Amino acid sequence: MKKPKSSQFPGSRETFLIFIVVACGIMATLSVNLFNHSASDPSEANMGESTRSDQPRSVPGKVPSVVLTDVPLSTGTEPLEKLFVQSGCAVCHTIPGIAPALGREGPRLVLGTNGPLRLADPQYQGTATTVREYIQESILNPGAYVVPGFSDRVMPRWYGTRLNALALDRIAEYLENVKE
Ligand code: HEC
Repeated sequence: MKKPKSSQFPGSRETFLIFIVVACGIMATLSVNLFNHSASDPSEANMGESTRSDQPRSVPGKVPSVVLTDVPLSTGTEPLEKLFVQSGCAVCHTIPGIAPALGREGPRLVLGTNGPLRLADPQYQGTATTVREYIQESILNPGAYVVPGFSDRVMPRWYGTRLNALALDRIAEYLENVKE
C-alpha cells in the first residue's frame, strides 16, 4: 500500500500553512495602508502633510481641504481679511469685500440676503432664530443645515477649537451685513 503523500515529505504541510499565514499578514498590512491613504472625510484629508503658512493651502485640481494644523488659534483681534484668510474660509468661499476670498467649494457668503431664506426654509432644523445665530451655527456645527446643492462634511467641523467668541462674533457681524 502507498504511503500518504504528506508523510513522504515530512514538514511540507506545515511549511505550506506557514506560507499562507505569512501571505495573509502581508495582504492585511497592504490593505490597511491602502485604506489609510484613501481618507474618506475631506475635512480630515491630507493630515500629516501640512506645512505652516499664513494661508491654508488648497491643492489645485483637488477638492480644497483645510486642515486643523494649518489654522492658527485666532485671538479675534486680527484684521477681518486676515481672519477670513488665516482660518481658511477664503479657500472655499467667495466673500464680497474680502479680496482674496474667491473659493467656490462652498456657497457665496451673502448672508444678509440668504440668511433669512435659510431660516425660513422648511428643511431648516437648526436652533438659530436670527441670521447672526445662523452664521455662528453654520461655523460651529456645519451639519445643522446643509445648503442645497452643496456637500455636507466638506466644511471642517473643528472651527469651535480655532475661533474664539470674539472671532466668531466679528465674522458673523461682517457676514450678516453682506447683501446682494
Ligand atoms: C473646505 C471648505 C470650507 C471651508 C474651509 C469653510 N467652509 Fe463654510 N461651507 C463650505 C460648504 C461646502 C458649505 C455648504 C454646505 C453646508 O451648509 O455645510 C459651507 C457653508 C457655510 C455657511 C452657510 C452659508 C449659507 O449660505 O447658508 C457659512 C456661513 C460658512 N460656510 C462660513 C464659513 C466660514 C466663516 C469659514 C471660515 C471660518 C468657512 N465657512 C470655512 C465649505 C467650507
